[in-house]
Parts: sequence; C-alpha cells; structure tokens
Amino acid sequence: MPKLYIETVGCQMNMLDSELVVASLRKDGYELAANAADADTILFNTCSVRQHAEDKIYSALGRLKNAKREHPDKVIGVLGCMAQKDQDLIFRRAPYVDLVVGPGQLHQVPALVREARTERRQWMEVSLGRTDGSRDEIERSHESFDPLRDPAMRPTPYQAFVRIMIGCDKFCTYCIVPSVRGPEQSRPPAAILAEARQLADEDCLEITLLGQTVNSYRYREGERTWRLSDLIAALHEIEGIARIKFVTNYPKDMTDDLLAAVRDLPKCSKYLHVPVQSGSNAVLKRMKRGYTVEEYREMLARAYDSIPGVAVTSDFIVGFCGETDEEFGETIDLVRDSRLKNSFIFKYSERPGTKGAELYADDVPEDVKRHRNNSLLSLQNKICEEDNEAFFGREVTVLVEGPSKTAEKHGDVGDRLQLTGRTNCDRIVVFEGSRRQIGRFLPVVVYDANAHTLFGEVVTEHVGPEVFSLALPLAAAESQKE
Ligand code: 5AD
Ligand code: SF4
Repeated sequence: MPKLYIETVGCQMNMLDSELVVASLRKDGYELAANAADADTILFNTCSVRQHAEDKIYSALGRLKNAKREHPDKVIGVLGCMAQKDQDLIFRRAPYVDLVVGPGQLHQVPALVREARTERRQWMEVSLGRTDGSRDEIERSHESFDPLRDPAMRPTPYQAFVRIMIGCDKFCTYCIVPSVRGPEQSRPPAAILAEARQLADEDCLEITLLGQTVNSYRYREGERTWRLSDLIAALHEIEGIARIKFVTNYPKDMTDDLLAAVRDLPKCSKYLHVPVQSGSNAVLKRMKRGYTVEEYREMLARAYDSIPGVAVTSDFIVGFCGETDEEFGETIDLVRDSRLKNSFIFKYSERPGTKGAELYADDVPEDVKRHRNNSLLSLQNKICEEDNEAFFGREVTVLVEGPSKTAEKHGDVGDRLQLTGRTNCDRIVVFEGSRRQIGRFLPVVVYDANAHTLFGEVVTEHVGPEVFSLALPLAAAESQKE
C-alpha cells in the first residue's frame, strides 16, 4: 500500500480540506504514514494569512531537499492557500516540489498524484485570480470539494466540520483570503443537510459549520432565501446530531434571527466567534471592516441580552498600519468592557497583493507590535480567569472528546484517565474518567479553573452502568444549561 503523510497548518477550513484529500487518496489505496520519512507522498496543506505560516512551510520543504535527492520517486505536494498565492514561485524556491494545488482544485489531487508518480514533471493546478475573468468564471474555477468524508481524519469521531460556504467578498485590507479562496459562494442547503445526515449515521454528535463569514450565508431557492438561521433550524431536526456550532461570524451580519436561533434551539452551542479586529474606528476604517466600534458594542449587547450565558470570542490584529498608542488604547478599552470568553491576538503581517500592502506602510515596529500583543493577551487572560472562577461549584454538560493533553503526553493506556471535553458554551473542561465515557455527554461539577480550562468531577450519581442509558437522552436534551 502506498503511504501518505500530510501536514496541515492554518484554520479549520484547512483541517477539513485535509480530511477530504486523505479520504480521496484512501480510495486510491493510500494509507497514512506517521512521518514524512516513511511516506511515498508528502503533502503540505498551507496557510497564507500571515508570513510566519508561510515561512514554516518553506523551511519544512527545505528539510525535504535531501530526502527527495535520495528518493526521487517520493511525491512532494504543496496544497491550499499558499499554493494559490505563490503558484510557480514555489517551484522556483523548492525545485524538487512535484505538485502545487490551490484550495479550489483539491478534487484533482488523486489524479495529479497518480500522474506525478508515473511522469516526472511539475504539475500546477490553481484557480483564477480575482481579476482573471467574469465573476461566473472565477466562481466556477474555485470548486467546493465536500462529499468525501474520512472519519479517521476528523478532530474526533464524534465531531465534524461541515462547510457551508467558500470564499469571501469582504476584502478587509489586511487579508489575503478573498484572493486565495475566491468569491463568496454558499452551498445548497440540500447538500449540507445530506452531509449532516450522513455524519449522524456515522455517530457524529457535533457539527461545526464553516465559512469565512459563516453568518453571511445566503442561498436562493426559487422564491425562498435560506439564511444561516434557517439552515440551523433544518439541521436541528436531524436525529443524532446533538450539538451545532458555526464559525467565523462577520459582526455586521449578526442578525436578530440568528441570535434567536442560537437562544431557542437547544442543540445550538451558546458560543459565538465574532472577530472585531480593533477597538479604534480609525483603524477599522483603514482595515475596511465596514462597521464602527459602537456598532460592534451594540451587537455584543444584543447577543448578551438575548442569549443567557452566551460566550463570545474575538480576533484582534495589533500593530496594523499607522496604529497609534491611542488607537491601541481603544482596543484595550474594548477588551476591558467586553467580557469576551477569549481573544485570539495576532501581530499584523503585511500580505503582498492586499489593499493594505498597496495603500499603507507596515510602519509599527516589531517590538511595539510584540508589546501590544502581550498587553492585550495579559488583559484577556485576567478576564478569562475571573470569568472561569464564576463556574466554581456549577454543573456543566460536557461532550467528552478524548484523553486530555496530559494523558496523551503520559501515553496513558489504562481505563481510568484524565479526559477533556467542552461545555455547551465551548469552555474546555478536564476531569478524571473512564475511556468508555469518550464520545458521550456527561454532567461535570467544576471545582477549579485557570484562564483557559475548567477542572471538574463527573457527577457521581450518573457514573456507572446507568451512564449508557443516560447518555443519549442527555445528549438530545443538551439543555439550556451551560
Ligand atoms: N496579519 C495578521 N493577522 C491577520 N489575520 C488575517 N489577516 C492577517 C494579517 N495580514 C487574522 C485576523 C483574522 C484571523 C483569522 O487572522 O484576525 O480574523
Ligand atoms: Fe479576511 Fe475580512 Fe474575509 Fe475575514 S471577512 S476572510 S478577515 S477579508
């Protein structure tokens, strides 16, 4: 059997793409190898959002140079966003790469790998750029690639990503995504529902709907337009699916119908990831985000008012072009006021080909970016700790995902071990349990916490043989409770 090694960097969209690439290559007889040295085909599924992600891939490619010289029949492929962005630059920087395949062309990977194994030459398949044709032609050149699933490549057997949109039309000035992932296109609801039913048949309990701006989902079907709230309501009917999440949200499209769906549908995770990027109107304007800080604060207040116990997370970019101390101070104010469950903070990384790179100088020095990153992070961590303390003594419902990081590190093999899972509002919980509890919903009482983890104990009256009969009703009713 030929062996495949695949390394994935970047977002959940990339994790899903890798799952589908693996599924398609398994159909061709491939099995997964644990490391690159044992593999006949080595694939990198890449990210272009920041320079650092690209540097990592170019150095990993550099490390393969000798391996390829010694084993010229090994196939090396670069897939995903960096393939679309850099195209034949990849062949110039690493001439021993055989395949360059953009994210809209991944359905071609099995055929390309086959060809690369028989004919030694370089193969490149990428989609059209954003100005290389009519909207229709460009859309068609970015193909969604979804029907093949591979349970073994999922985050866990009980959790799956489901793509509901591809591409992005927002063109925030710092962001490369609209160029590499192409125009915003929503998938037909029937295809999404069929995929979710198939996942439920495979005992998947939790689905996470994916889109660059997932809440901009719109699909016209005759007279009817499906929005994200309609789609969630339809998915909610599927027996077996017990938890539904969706990422990433665009603040301006956080409409009341969507908030009501999250509040009223018990399977909906009470968790919203809504990146704001900056707390300064001047910066938001330069980023072309399309909303003001006041509008973001209003959206947040609506979410907190309408969904009791909702957890909101956000992304921030620090050190964007021209960001002054005062402007950064406004971001600090926003974080202090917002009680976010967590913030993902990034130092601005200039992306050639974006409006930001064209219009503005990347003029905030690296040490200032680092300092702002650290101050925002320590403020957010303090808030996380305070918020998590509020959980002491409370009972939460946890979907058990598997062994905790510590248990994995120790290579625990016994039945009793440290487990990890998430609450209905996406908080990580670590507790002692039994392997049989993996993939079940369990009631856990929290007794300790740090900024990012709650520590708990399974509620004892539910432990024991009866847990098997309890697990399903509990899942179905995955209650309004935390
Ligand atoms: N530099 C730094 N961070 C970026 N992001 C997107 N583009 C850039 C960039 N050029 C961040 C945004 C986005 C997250 C996925 O990555 O915060 O929400
Ligand atoms: Fe990038 Fe903005 Fe689209 Fe998000 S909404 S993918 S940040 S362009």
